[in-house]
Amino acid sequence: MKRVWIETYGCQMNVADTELILGVLAGEGYTQADQPEGADVLLVNTCAVRDNAEQRVIGRMGELQRHKRPGTVLGVVGCMAQRLGPILLERVPKVDLVVGPDGYRNLPELLGHAAGGMRTADVEYRSWEHYEDFPQVRAAGPTAFVTVQRGCDYRCTFCIVPTTRGPERSRRLADVVAEVRALAEGGTSEVTLLGQTVNSYHDGTDDFAALLRAMGTVDGIRRIRFTSPYPTDFTPSVIEAMATTPAVCDHVHLPVQSGSNSVLRRMRRRYTRERYLDVVDEIRSAMPAITFSTDIIVGFPGETEDEFADTLSIVGAAGFDDAYTFKYSVREGTPAVKIRDHVPDDVATERLDRLIDVVRAQARRRNAAHVGEVYEVLVERPARRGDMMLARTRRNHMVLVDLPTSSIGEYHKVQLTGTTGSTFTGALHHARLAVL
Ligand code: 5AD
Repeated sequence: MKRVWIETYGCQMNVADTELILGVLAGEGYTQADQPEGADVLLVNTCAVRDNAEQRVIGRMGELQRHKRPGTVLGVVGCMAQRLGPILLERVPKVDLVVGPDGYRNLPELLGHAAGGMRTADVEYRSWEHYEDFPQVRAAGPTAFVTVQRGCDYRCTFCIVPTTRGPERSRRLADVVAEVRALAEGGTSEVTLLGQTVNSYHDGTDDFAALLRAMGTVDGIRRIRFTSPYPTDFTPSVIEAMATTPAVCDHVHLPVQSGSNSVLRRMRRRYTRERYLDVVDEIRSAMPAITFSTDIIVGFPGETEDEFADTLSIVGAAGFDDAYTFKYSVREGTPAVKIRDHVPDDVATERLDRLIDVVRAQARRRNAAHVGEVYEVLVERPARRGDMMLARTRRNHMVLVDLPTSSIGEYHKVQLTGTTGSTFTGALHHARLAVL
């Protein structure tokens, strides 16, 4: 029996891709190792979106190499593999295999070659590839990621993903429905639909609104989430489908990237600040309980203090409950490389700190206002510390609840009893209070 150890970095789609990789390898007789020591195959599923993501992988590969014995295969897969390709083979002598996101179908064969001493890089784009016939090996639990769209056709000037994941393609609606139905039969009650611009989903016949409605008809699916949508792809019919499909959760992660119109233009985002805020308003009026989180980049080339001030102010204007904040990272091969006017690192760092302060203060304030309210939560997993369970509301708030491990997968009503600013504590609730 061959054993594979795989580590996953980066986004949810990488988590889903790792499940595909484990699936294809399981079909070839591989089982999952519970530690890198002694595994026959060591894989690192990588992210290329920022330089620090790549540096972490390089550091980790240095450590993993130490577990390499004669015959052990060390492979790099995912976006960094696609971005660097054969260069990785040159730079890291112990790497045997480099495979991009469209190449996982060939993994068993390439692993065989690698075991025989042949080092290869497969970084071909296969725009037809959906891994439709791959049986995933998913982590047990009530929630599942379901990839509905791969690749990206948008050309945001900061972003490497169009290069690493190739052209946009959507799976057929019927295939997605069949997968989600099977998940529901296995006890999954929450799915998160994944795509780079997930609400631009279109399979040639059906759009994202149709997909949401179809998901809503699957027995046993009580919660539908999706990530990440693109602001201008929230058409009236998508918003209507969200509002009228009860399983669609009250949370949208909607990357804004910047609050400044001139920066948005340089980023080649397809909206203005005003249009973005209109989209937020349109969704809020259709779904009053909705919460928004976002992604924000500071220090994009040429960003002035005034432009940054517009980013600070959009946090309040949009009423974000949470934000992932990043310092701009130059990605070779993206159009923004050509914008000369770079922001000094100390300036970007200082802006990032100010932005984080604003985001945290607002999250704390908004969360404090929810204490005392009663929500339905899905119990997802044990919390890292103590013996509490981590549960989630439809609004994407995380709640620590005193429940046994056997409650994983159950829905309970809890009253929020406190907040650390980001997460909540909650107590089981039995009285007849309105449930949010
Ligand atoms: N530098 C910094 N952040 C980036 N992101 C994407 N590309 C870059 C980059 N070059 C951020 C965006 C995106 C998130 C996944 O990563 O905010 O939404």
